[in-house]
Amino acid sequence: MNIVKLHATTSTNDELKSRFRESVLPHLTAIYSLKQTRGKGQQGAQWVTEDGKNLTFSVLITEGVSDLTPFLINQVVSVSIVEWLKNDLQIQSKIKWPNDILSVNHKLAGILIENSYSGNFLSSSVVGIGLNVNQVEFEGLPKAISLKNITGKEFELEVLLISFLNVLKNNLRDPLKVAQDYNKYLFKYRQVISFESSNAVFNGRVEGTDKDGKLILRVDNELKIYDLKELKWMY
Ligand code: BTN
Repeated sequence: MNIVKLHATTSTNDELKSRFRESVLPHLTAIYSLKQTRGKGQQGAQWVTEDGKNLTFSVLITEGVSDLTPFLINQVVSVSIVEWLKNDLQIQSKIKWPNDILSVNHKLAGILIENSYSGNFLSSSVVGIGLNVNQVEFEGLPKAISLKNITGKEFELEVLLISFLNVLKNNLRDPLKVAQDYNKYLFKYRQVISFESSNAVFNGRVEGTDKDGKLILRVDNELKIYDLKELKWMY
């Protein structure tokens, strides 16, 4: 494992992508930074966290990546986070489709994956993860939570990173098997909750995801498939 620690960067995803453009880097090279000046979140949002308190890192996946799809990578990464939290830290969490990791109904981690292609096949994937670790107050983010909020303990960032990377490395050996556990960890799986789409609020039962990663809901006894942009959770 090749781990690079930075004191500051714009975004660890951008940093890793630009270093990888300039030179060959080993599979599972990880960059973490104590500060990001332009941390990126989902759908063009910013990812803002308190400097030095949290794990903001990116991992490069190259080995075997041409056999994977973007959603399979997403599944392996999310299941790895949930299993790692459960087995190494005794913290229960769920995957809120598509990219959030929730614990006690609050957001503990977010994932931003950026893929590169060679023709129709993936050639590399940069997996960015922001995990709330030692931050205690989240002003303006009432739905955020950290490992310290949950356990009352402080954590060493690099120790956490190494133990997570070991789980990810192992899970990448058999991605299809790992992906089978995805639904088991899905937030509100087989439960009926309210969603909003095209300005209408409706109830849907979470039935899982299709192979492209779209969410399958049962609405009025009919299965419907939703894209992230079409759907807002009202939980
Ligand atoms: C989300 O919106 O939930 C995804 C957040 C992903 C944030 C991480 S922090 C490390 C990596 N670098 C970035 O710029 N973003 C990801």
